[in-house]
Amino acid sequence: MLFNMCGIAGYVGPKNAVDVVFDQLKRLEYRGYDSAGIAFRDNGNIAVVKRAGKLSELGKALHDMPSDTHLAIAHSRWATHGAPTDLNAHPHYDAYEQVAMIHNGIIENYLDLRDELVAKGHLFQSQTDTEVAAHVIGEEYAPGVPLEEAVRRAVKRLRGAFALVVISKREDGKIVAVRNASPIVIGLGKGENLLASDIPALLPYTRDVVVLEEGHLAVLTPEGVRVLDEDGRDLPLRTERIDWDVAMAERGGYEHFMLKEIHEQPAVIRQSLAGRIDENGQVRLERVFSEHVWTEIDRVNLIACGTAYHAALMGKFLFERLLRLPTDVYYSSEFRYGDPVLSPRSLAIFVSQSGETADTLAALRLCKARRIRTLGIVNVVGSSIARECDRTIFTQAGPEISVASTKAYTAQVMVLTLLALYIAQVNEAAGIRVDDWIGELMQLPEKAKRVLKTEPQIVEVCRKIQDAPLCFFLGRGADAYTALEGALKFKEICYVPTQESPAGEMKHGPLALVVPGVVAIFGATDPATADKVVSNMKEVQARGGTVVAITTDEDTVVHKAADHVLQVPHSKHEFLTALLSVIPLQLIAYHVARIRGCEIDQPRNLAKSVTVE
Ligand code: M6R
Repeated sequence: MLFNMCGIAGYVGPKNAVDVVFDQLKRLEYRGYDSAGIAFRDNGNIAVVKRAGKLSELGKALHDMPSDTHLAIAHSRWATHGAPTDLNAHPHYDAYEQVAMIHNGIIENYLDLRDELVAKGHLFQSQTDTEVAAHVIGEEYAPGVPLEEAVRRAVKRLRGAFALVVISKREDGKIVAVRNASPIVIGLGKGENLLASDIPALLPYTRDVVVLEEGHLAVLTPEGVRVLDEDGRDLPLRTERIDWDVAMAERGGYEHFMLKEIHEQPAVIRQSLAGRIDENGQVRLERVFSEHVWTEIDRVNLIACGTAYHAALMGKFLFERLLRLPTDVYYSSEFRYGDPVLSPRSLAIFVSQSGETADTLAALRLCKARRIRTLGIVNVVGSSIARECDRTIFTQAGPEISVASTKAYTAQVMVLTLLALYIAQVNEAAGIRVDDWIGELMQLPEKAKRVLKTEPQIVEVCRKIQDAPLCFFLGRGADAYTALEGALKFKEICYVPTQESPAGEMKHGPLALVVPGVVAIFGATDPATADKVVSNMKEVQARGGTVVAITTDEDTVVHKAADHVLQVPHSKHEFLTALLSVIPLQLIAYHVARIRGCEIDQPRNLAKSVTVE
């Protein structure tokens, strides 16, 4: 499964390498980026050209570049550390401009490494973790050491999930790449070789590829490709032939971006934790307010739209249940015109995938005018909300292309959870076992994978409910919030009316809508309310409705009552089990939409980013 934040390309061979890698970047344009750059051999040196913004900006800057260069690497950045500027764009040099490097992923210990290098006199041009890694490679690249050996040694000093691609002034005609949980695919040509982060960038040149495996390192020259293990030993090449068309390749082999993004969630959960848990099992959040600020905050207002609003509701659940910190959640559009009562000691948190949603931005500006502290939880680095908030925590979910948001929600809830734990930690809140929560959080990527493995059962259930004229989404506690998100996904892409509410509210009105054929999907992951949820299920069944329950693998009650049962792995904290249950809800929406023949990635009447109020 490919999960890439940034686009990577590289070429060595007889063609004009700058043209080839620029063409490769164009083939990765569909996935989004905020800046781009190229490094190539030029008169015995390595030239680097990079620009913030569209690829056309880089294209203009490359206009007068030499046409006889046969080694180049290129990168389109989707920022995670440092704003999208010319300086932060890749490639980056080491301290001596001997090597140039591009990178995908996150170097978790870059701040410690940076301090170590600064103490030795290193100067940095950018705010990126990438430049720190390039300097580490430069340090290891002593005279007589081959580039692949320097990279191999440097990788041992880096922590995180990343892929690195490096070229050197000393060794013409060689590209070195290493994979550490971020994908690299090598394209095999005749008298030329290429690499890329994503298969579409290889397809015009070759269909014979080697997918670099975990921890392995590749050395590309025009003559051939070597693959080495962590100890520098040569390995046999495992070649595959790709027969996907370009559209299929862009979606990583999935039929839709939405499905690809749903399947990226284990990696996204891992990525949202990357660099945020230190060796002592403490939460480490960079660039948030100083510790004393957290003791002053008397109230939190979470402000967002759509899916981000549903993630914010999960935040409220945790802030109140765990921290006992009063928290309100507002739709951005209502907040803006609602003349909200704001305590001067309150914190306003803005949750947004795009960072450009007009209502959320307007609400942010209102808070700033009222001098309230503002914090963004945003996916797109350099977006308006990220820039205008006093502080921003990035969700690190990678580009989300499907209009129906999936992985961004999971990443937003993960960041809200980390934030709650961080507040508990700095305030030394009594009775909260942060280490215990972290242990559970670390298990989530694996548990999310287990949920994805139940997809065939989910498809079976979808076949049974595909014709429902109305679908209820119900739950109690945190399940009531995930129910809202399940309903939003369902209406967005299945075009079927939904009715969503806390399960206990059914008998106060919505129950009147239940007739034979109607389907009710219950989130029932909390054993504490299982009996009550079962009563609500019976109310639906007694009126001819069909009940689907999402419960846990340790459930002893709910599965006996429901018509169809789906399970997610139990977590010690019911909140985390509820979070995992969003995955079956997303897959139900996806598969019902698919069976009904609906447009999935671009549903009617909707846009990915709503930049009008
Ligand atoms: O970019 P944002 O997170 O600010 O966007 C908010 C909503 O527009 C967005 O979540 C929308 O509801 C999605 N289409 C839901 O799938």
